[in-house]
Amino acid sequence: MAFIVKKKISGKEYYYLNETKRVNGKVVSKCLAYLGKDKKEAEVKAKNILNERKHLSKMENISDENKPFGKVSKTNGIPKPEDKVNLIKKEISVEELNSFCKRKGFVYQSGEIYGGFAGFWDFGHLGVEFKNNIKNSWWKYFAGREDVVGIDGSIITHPTVWKASGHVDSFSDVFVVCKKCKKPGKVDRSELRKKKCENCGGEYDNENAKDFKLMFETNVGTDSKSYLRPETAQLIFADFKAVQDNARMKLPFGIAQIGKAFRNEIAPRDFLFRSREFEQMEMQFFVDPSKIDDCFDYGKIKSIKIDILDFSGNENILSIDEMLSKGIFKNRWHAYWLWYSYEWFKGLGIRKENLRLREHRKDELAHYANAAVDIEYNFPSGWREIFGSHDRGQFDLGEHEKFSKKDMKVYDEETKKKILPAVIESSFGVERAFMAFVFDSYSGREGNVVLNLNPKLSPVKAAVFPIVKGEEYEKISKEIFENLNEEWNVVYDKAGSIGRRYARNDEIGTPMCITIDEQTLKDKTITIRDRDTTKQVRVKISELNEVSRKVIYGENLLNLGKIIQTRKK
Ligand code: GAP
Repeated sequence: MAFIVKKKISGKEYYYLNETKRVNGKVVSKCLAYLGKDKKEAEVKAKNILNERKHLSKMENISDENKPFGKVSKTNGIPKPEDKVNLIKKEISVEELNSFCKRKGFVYQSGEIYGGFAGFWDFGHLGVEFKNNIKNSWWKYFAGREDVVGIDGSIITHPTVWKASGHVDSFSDVFVVCKKCKKPGKVDRSELRKKKCENCGGEYDNENAKDFKLMFETNVGTDSKSYLRPETAQLIFADFKAVQDNARMKLPFGIAQIGKAFRNEIAPRDFLFRSREFEQMEMQFFVDPSKIDDCFDYGKIKSIKIDILDFSGNENILSIDEMLSKGIFKNRWHAYWLWYSYEWFKGLGIRKENLRLREHRKDELAHYANAAVDIEYNFPSGWREIFGSHDRGQFDLGEHEKFSKKDMKVYDEETKKKILPAVIESSFGVERAFMAFVFDSYSGREGNVVLNLNPKLSPVKAAVFPIVKGEEYEKISKEIFENLNEEWNVVYDKAGSIGRRYARNDEIGTPMCITIDEQTLKDKTITIRDRDTTKQVRVKISELNEVSRKVIYGENLLNLGKIIQTRKK
């Protein structure tokens, strides 16, 4: 059995991973590894070491021909460097994720040269590509449907939009200060007196709790005040009639939008997780309230089972139909969009065991919601929301109708009646999806990091390397690079050993490394190395565009060309 041990040496604490075994009837304890001085980091390191050992012992117990990546020869349980072992999932802390993202050029703290600005982040050369890929994939999946159209609303809009939506009056958190560490904290009204300090676990000073408005105010022109939008949804509601008329949409239909949202969070924390400026990807689906259960695809999804934490804190695996009959969803359209959103995460590679649903308690429902179910991801700090779905009923269109005195109803030709639609909302945060995708794909092989991202999300789709020095090789490599770069984000890299070039690209999730070698000059073929197996296939240059497209859209590279002997580093 392995366990973490804390030792105090000269007043300082150090952590070790120890193991006890029974040898000849006696219990013997052995130190497996030094884990550092920080308890949280030690826990993460211990998890990694134990995962790696579990993986190796699994590999030992299967025959060589059934091993996914060939024979694994071992010396005292440690794989030799030339062995091609499977990827091992690595657990990292949020702080480690933050420093990885900074080191590789994904994310920087905004204004860092001036000491940083809490809750604001800049996306670097890889971060912007990765984020765009997340957004493009979402846009195709939601706005690409026949029954959904898109808009791009303004960040600052008429202040009455926010009065009507209820945000001016109700969009606030309760501000408290920790009695022990004196750090500010936020609590929802329903959590007052129950929640402990997020920083040190101490007690909050609940007697002096204050209401804290979350919308950023701004001045417009010389004498008018407005707000930076705290959600993208309201722009969709305010434009609803214009979009419905001009796009000639019939109920039920959806309007999708991706864009920035701003919240003056009391205590931004956990890297991108709780930021003051972030992006949302939202889709509002408008339905005739009398047809809220007429969901044509419901039959196909009703038996699908998903892990869910219900409002009373019980975790269960329930079918969608069971959730509906328990009242977790009040109608079939809500259930359908929740399932559709869950599939987006899964389809892009997030492991099922790291996703679960969570039903909101009545006392935590937002002012506009009849029911709410989140999708949570299993972060190192625990299960946290990455997506929110709300049954908003007729609240938003009803309020805008009241405040604007404009008719928000839709004429239904079938019944010859005017209908005020009900709304089912699917709301994603780009940054939280970003974190979940990186955590879920963060793996290791032979001491190097491998980000086994879905190729659709990879910031760089292919890296092109001439591996022999000489003008001719570089010329062909450049031509290949320029050709692929017209369609995808591709890099050309001729610096360092081939091993270093592979490792640099594994670390940022590049699915294909293309090498130009002696044989290229003879028969116009190149090799493509598969990131996850390190195996290589040889394909004709003339087939490269087609093969790349297939790999990026999900086909296995190893089925697309002749597998060749892996090149030694
Ligand atoms: N229109 C509904 C709405 O905004 P929400 O649950 O407040 O609902 C939806 O937010 C999603 O937006 C969340 O699931 C999360 O992914 C993201 N989000 C919310 N606040 C955030 C913050 N401070 N930082 C980063 N992402 C945030």
